[in-house]
Amino acid sequence: MQIDIFTLFPQMFESPLSSGLLQRAIDRKLVSVNLHNIRDYTHNKHRTVDDYPYGGGAGMMLKPEPVFEAVEALQSDLSHKQEVVEVPIVLLTPQGRLFSQHIALKLSKYSHLVLICGHYEGIDERVREHLVTDEISIGDYVLSGGELAAMIVADAVVRLLPGVLGSEASPLDESHTTGLLEYPQYTRPQVYRDWAVPEVLLSGNHTQIAQWRREQSILRTLKRRPELLDKANLCTKEKQLVVRLKQSQ
Ligand code: ADE
Repeated sequence: MQIDIFTLFPQMFESPLSSGLLQRAIDRKLVSVNLHNIRDYTHNKHRTVDDYPYGGGAGMMLKPEPVFEAVEALQSDLSHKQEVVEVPIVLLTPQGRLFSQHIALKLSKYSHLVLICGHYEGIDERVREHLVTDEISIGDYVLSGGELAAMIVADAVVRLLPGVLGSEASPLDESHTTGLLEYPQYTRPQVYRDWAVPEVLLSGNHTQIAQWRREQSILRTLKRRPELLDKANLCTKEKQLVVRLKQSQ
């Protein structure tokens, strides 16, 4: 996968891209991440990228020209180089659709992603109308810019690419992939400060362990994120379990 990130603050990406999972994926050539400074596509002496909103109001807006020119420079480069592939052009903005594991999985299927980090009080609407193909928000709060959101999207997508996680670390069981929160996990020591690991996990009985984990997932989801249960894929027995658990709450 290739990810191109358009930002006014490329230096913000240095640490996330040079440590942990993203760095490992880059080193192993499973993904390449290119940073583009939107300011490099200005033509005026002061390299201005912002301006006042028409109609008045507080704050400054990100101007359309440098954003269009930056992304179009990449598009023109691509059209010379390779066969045409569909490339989502994603604007990170609090007005976007709410990011989820489902969206991360969908994005991980593309071979190329473009992420545009908004800034200031907003971005000229024509960027939304005529350049971007998708808008994503990472949550119902306002960040100072789209950079942190872009890092979150990149991280969640890259760890789903084939080969990025070790063979034994499967994303299939984890929170949100199943539609449920993940069950409690333990590692050694078996007893720590009088707190023992649940007996069933030491039993070696894989059917019982799987059943216990499934029940714990349902229980935890019911307690913490009950709204997720409506969409989770539960069998009849599990639905009955939910009804019983709700009654005993
Ligand atoms: N930019 C500012 N706030 C944001 C958010 N919540 N999600 C994505 N991009 C943002």
